[in-house]
Formats: sequence, C-alpha cells, structure tokens
Amino acid sequence: MIETAYAKINLALHVRRRRDDGYHELETLFAFVDAGDTLTVSPAARDEVRTIGEFSGGLTDPFDNIVAKALNLLPREQSWRITLEKNLPVAAGLGGGSADAGAVFRLVGRAVGLPGDWHERAARLGADVPACVESRVCIGRGTGTELEPVENDLAGMPVLLVNPRVALSTPRVFSQWHGADHGPIAEGTARHIAKTGRNDLEKAAIAICPEIADVLGAFDATDPWLVRMSGSGATCFALYETVELRDQVAQWLAKWKPDWWQLPGKLR
Ligand code: C5P
Repeated sequence: MIETAYAKINLALHVRRRRDDGYHELETLFAFVDAGDTLTVSPAARDEVRTIGEFSGGLTDPFDNIVAKALNLLPREQSWRITLEKNLPVAAGLGGGSADAGAVFRLVGRAVGLPGDWHERAARLGADVPACVESRVCIGRGTGTELEPVENDLAGMPVLLVNPRVALSTPRVFSQWHGADHGPIAEGTARHIAKTGRNDLEKAAIAICPEIADVLGAFDATDPWLVRMSGSGATCFALYETVELRDQVAQWLAKWKPDWWQLPGKLR
C-alpha cells in the first residue's frame, strides 16, 4: 500500500489565548496540498520505519518518529515495515510529522479499519494530527483538534509552497506570540475565511527568521490571490488563479533564489 502524507497549510491561523498548560487556543482554517511525503507499507516480522528522501536527515531519532508512535497506537493483525520518503522540510509549518501520522491512520483504516476513538488517539500525537487524518479543508478550534466542516470552494486552486530552508521550532514561535487577541476567523466559505484571515504567528516567526519576510515579499510581487505564512513557519504559500502563473513564479524563484525549497501543487 502507498499513501501520500499531504502537506498541511493554514489558510488562516488566529491565535486567541495562551493557556495555563502552555498550549494556545486558536482558530484555524486547515487546507492540504495534493503532494507531500510518501509512505509505502509492506508486511514485516515486526513494525519498522525506514526513512529515505531529501529531508530524511532531519529525522534524527528513529524511536521518536511520529510514524512509529502512530503505528504503536493502532492495532493491526500484521506487523508493517513503513518506508517514509521525506519530501517535506522538517520543522517547517507544514505539519510534516502530523501529515505522516495522518497517513498512517488512513493506511490502517484501509487495511483493517480505524478504532472508534481514532480522533482521540490522533490528538494524543499532536494538535494537527486529527486534521491531517482527514486531510480535507476544515476549521480547527481549541488547540486545533476540534474540527468543523466548511464549504470548500478552493479545491483545485494552484498553490506554491516556499521555504527558505530554515528550520523553526513551533514551541519557540508560539512562545514569542505577542499575546494580543485580534479576533476570530470569519464565517462563510473557505475562500472567504482565507481571504479575510491572518496568521497571528507571522510577526513572531519573522523575528526569529527574517528570511520569512523576504519570501512573503517575493510572493507579494507575483499577483497572487493570497499570500501567507503556514503554521509557525518558515514555509509560506501563495495561491494563484492559474497554473500558468504559478509555474512562471516557480521558475522565476528557482533562478532568483535557488537555495529556497519549493513545492507546486493544487489544494485538495
Ligand atoms: O501538538 P504539537 O506537538 O504539534 O504542538 C507542538 C508545540 O506547539 C506545543 O508543544 C506547543 O508549544 C505549541 N502549540 C501551542 N498551541 C497549539 C498547538 C501547538 O502552543 N494550539
């Protein structure tokens, strides 16, 4: 079995309140790009995770791997070897690890079905994991685990992800959040919520990684429908009205900033 771990982006991320446990109450519009890491499953004598791909070097501790943790949480009749092709940068605001865990849940769902409490099990692995299991546009509240459906009028929209190849620690960015509540996300369709939304972690992330402002500035000059940082950064994305425009921008950026990582795709 093969499954894609779709890159997660936050079309809007409104941080509302710091909680006593260190987490933050937020409202976010999750969306997913039709590309990401690839997980391949084969039967094995015992559960095992191998990593390959451009960013596999970023996963230093195999026992701390979220894919192994997800496997441990989900009973199966057969042990699995999972080969994880790590195409997404690590600590990048793309929920890479969460997306990998989400893909494990979908694989187990396909093979033997998921337990009734899969949502709780997913939430134990990380705030973004339940959304990544679904990998559909949806609203997240609470720490991000309380999911609500939303009308997806953005499916198929061309998107370009760019990361300046700087890893950012999510707890560090959250800890630098200014603490001021700038209000809820809008009501309405995904298009409306995205367009009227913000990423409240942008300032904090730019303070730690000024290159994010360069990426956003580069995107701003390309006539996008929307430009924003994803999650806690440093990946930023631009949405375009046409594939042609997205591809032109990708080519231009590849020449002008050859060190920046980029991934073109479409929203799911
Ligand atoms: O849940 P997850 O392990 O993905 O979260 C990583 C870190 O991000 C947390 O330890 C916390 O510092 C921060 N976080 C937060 N508020 C959220 C989600 C994550 O402060 N709603």
